[in-house]
Amino acid sequence: MNSIKHFPVLTPEEAVALIPHGATVSFSGFSPAGAAKVIPRALAARARQEHQAGSAFKVRVLTGASSGESIDDELARAEAISWRAPYQSGSSLRKQINRQEVEYVDMHLSHVPQTVLFGFFGKIDFAVVEATEITPDGRVYLTTSIGASPTYLKYADHVIIEINRGHSMRLREMADIVVLPAPPHRSPIPIYEPMTRVGWPYAIVDPSKVVGIVENEEPDHVVPFDAPDTPSHKIAQFLVRFLIDEMKAGRIPQEFLPLQAGVGNVANGVMAELGANPDIPPFTMYSEVFQDSLVGLMERGKLLGASATALTVTTDMLRRMYENMDFFCPRIVLRPQEISNHPGVIRRLGVIGLNTALEADIYGNVNSSHLYGMDIMNGIGGSGEFARNSYLAVFMCPSTAKGGKISSIVPMCPHIDNNEHSVQVIVTEQGLADLRGLGPSQRARKIIDNCAHPAYRDYLNRYVGRARTGHIPHDLATAFELHRNLLETGSMLPGVF
Ligand code: COA
Repeated sequence: MNSIKHFPVLTPEEAVALIPHGATVSFSGFSPAGAAKVIPRALAARARQEHQAGSAFKVRVLTGASSGESIDDELARAEAISWRAPYQSGSSLRKQINRQEVEYVDMHLSHVPQTVLFGFFGKIDFAVVEATEITPDGRVYLTTSIGASPTYLKYADHVIIEINRGHSMRLREMADIVVLPAPPHRSPIPIYEPMTRVGWPYAIVDPSKVVGIVENEEPDHVVPFDAPDTPSHKIAQFLVRFLIDEMKAGRIPQEFLPLQAGVGNVANGVMAELGANPDIPPFTMYSEVFQDSLVGLMERGKLLGASATALTVTTDMLRRMYENMDFFCPRIVLRPQEISNHPGVIRRLGVIGLNTALEADIYGNVNSSHLYGMDIMNGIGGSGEFARNSYLAVFMCPSTAKGGKISSIVPMCPHIDNNEHSVQVIVTEQGLADLRGLGPSQRARKIIDNCAHPAYRDYLNRYVGRARTGHIPHDLATAFELHRNLLETGSMLPGVF
């Protein structure tokens, strides 16, 4: 591209030499899609060198959500991260967070741009953003994710662009970018159906802030999901039957409502199953991440259009899409996470939100992020924004984990991401609990009978039996007994599992 002649072309090593210890660096990427790649890897190498020489070197890391392996794995393994926001899913980083070696801000993803705008993360020293092109006047054409990159480009003091030649230049046809002003200067966002476009195909940067460009053609490192297992199949079957019944009852219109599907193996499997069922009509999505299972659905005409912030598909799948951009470009809109996860738009569109829980309690509170209320798994991600504002908020999970040693239905969740007021339906492979219109005791009955694994039902019934009477009955002495058992013995029901 001629345009890059306007900016210094740097090697990754030259680029990272500009970044000082203690800097706040915001990387592009929402999941591995569109993540900065060569600069974080070079930053990790530099951190190792500095550490070997006895010097301190750590940076504060922002991204859109989770990130590519060169950020949450490479940088984390180099012990180069001191602080991280707003979401992560890397095993090395997770351990460092849980050992209190890295400070982690786990937050709603649509809040990120406004948190940057008001300076709660401090000054952003560098934005490192992957793009297919930057023009001399500062238009930046992003790659497979939009995330928070438009905000980072706007507010960072210095910008480094990773030009990735492995991506299709036509990705810009999917991009629809706006950066919201600060309140009270916000107008309604005129998105009236999932595919409405309200912005521009590029993000904007002040060209004088661009300190350099680094070229590469490395693919996004998206890890394929496991093939759907038996619990995921059963969860999907219960869910599909429920949605069809809702259509018959007139509570979901015949043209259906836009779907949102969360991250993870269970959600991916459920989408595949939903798409295969002939009784579910062709649908649209207003979601966060466009995953592998949606490509085939779109090709078969089952998925009519999708709004997301990231195209998180494996390399083969992305190649398949790049070879058929005439088909895919008009059917996919990629938006900033402030818009893809916008509470007002989600509520207006009447989204059906399908998210995954680690555990739910007998009253319908959901924990998706913290094991035993203490150790982070990934984070809340967008689940709160979708669950709280969806027309129908569904949470799914297998009824047990680790071969039965863990029950996903517990008396009380020791950490709550989505509370009983937002959660309307819980589904496990045992069955589905529709909690709408039910009071706490009715909810407990339904969740235990329909969703808990049979091996845990007696325990949960006994818990309810000894609970102190109140609007929400609990026995505070044993509310976390299952979790304590798990920590102390490795099983929630020692002797049974
Ligand atoms: N206690 C402890 N561990 C549990 C558990 C529990 N209650 N429930 C599940 N696990 C373990 C599983 O055994 C598995 O461990 P493994 O990796 O060692 O095998 C792991 O957690 C993941 O479980 P799995 O059933 O494969 O779930 P998943 O891949 O579908 O992911 C979440 C589930 C909850 C971790 C994931 O969906 C998530 O991070 N959600 C929060 C963010 C979110 O919802 N984002 C989307 C919004 S748009």
